[in-house]
Amino acid sequence: MSEGDSIENLSQEIVELKKELNAVILVHNYQVPEIQDIGDYVGDSLGLSQQAAGTDADVIVFCGVHFMAETAKILCPDKTVILPDKDAGCSLEESCTPDKLVELQATNDNFFTIAYINCSARVKALSDAICTSGNAKKIVEQCPADKDLLFVPDENLGQWVMEQTGRPMTLWEGSCSVHVEWTHSTILKISDEYPGAPVVAHPECTKAVRILADEVCSTEKMVNYCRQAESESIIIATEAGMLHRLQKECPDKKFIPAPTEKCACNECHFMKMNTLEKVRDCMRELSPQVELSPEIIERARLPIERMLEWSVK
Ligand code: 13P
Ligand code: SF4
Repeated sequence: MSEGDSIENLSQEIVELKKELNAVILVHNYQVPEIQDIGDYVGDSLGLSQQAAGTDADVIVFCGVHFMAETAKILCPDKTVILPDKDAGCSLEESCTPDKLVELQATNDNFFTIAYINCSARVKALSDAICTSGNAKKIVEQCPADKDLLFVPDENLGQWVMEQTGRPMTLWEGSCSVHVEWTHSTILKISDEYPGAPVVAHPECTKAVRILADEVCSTEKMVNYCRQAESESIIIATEAGMLHRLQKECPDKKFIPAPTEKCACNECHFMKMNTLEKVRDCMRELSPQVELSPEIIERARLPIERMLEWSVK
């Protein structure tokens, strides 16, 4: 940050640029506190897609990771979608290349492919339905009964959905590099330190962690769970950015980050590539922008729209 670029100055400049550009700032729950604090909407992947689909702004400033901004562009092809750092990727997205997916799909003509939203636009374009962690159960329940389900790219989320629905699925072997860091023993250890504190975990965590959780849900559903929880202390097994959101929503509660074997909490380095300065710069320069071919947009839009439709059923 250069001199004069205090958080206050940058935030003020962002507010002015927002007016000038008729922009909306969409922010994922894992962003650093100062970015969350300038967001028009802060939420999970599902909420962010719904906001993008419904906005009348000319410019969408997407503060999350690349696949999220891509989803906004697919839903709003005529709008300018900018993001603070084009290199903010995702280990799940990286694990599932279009070529490898095509190869697997070719092994069964009866596959119906459900892609977790954490994947590239090209993978979305090869899929039949998209889901997020907030609606995965609902989406799988509505998939055609006579089809063989293929779930990509998060095997932990896929496993959790199979447990919830009883529907067998072929699972892609991908995982979130952040959420697999929590282990059964690190959760037991922190639970011993805070007896009675419920454990809330994201479904990208492994089964060894999920079985110890009182609630397994998307980041936005964590907010609802924590608001209603009777306990004053709650253990959170998801990316550290979530703690700021939860503390803002529930100021009287104490949130304890679940530790990993290496660290007292856990951050997604992709999410943390974004800074307030980069948000300001992308708005000043209208760059970097998400650019996708019309063919990919047209094909990838179908399974995303199906998801949005099935989410409200
Ligand atoms: P949510 O949709 O639950 O916010 O999850 C997004 C994500 O990337 C989790 O790692
Ligand atoms: Fe991807 Fe995991 Fe980071 Fe979420 S936390 S963006 S799933 S690497």
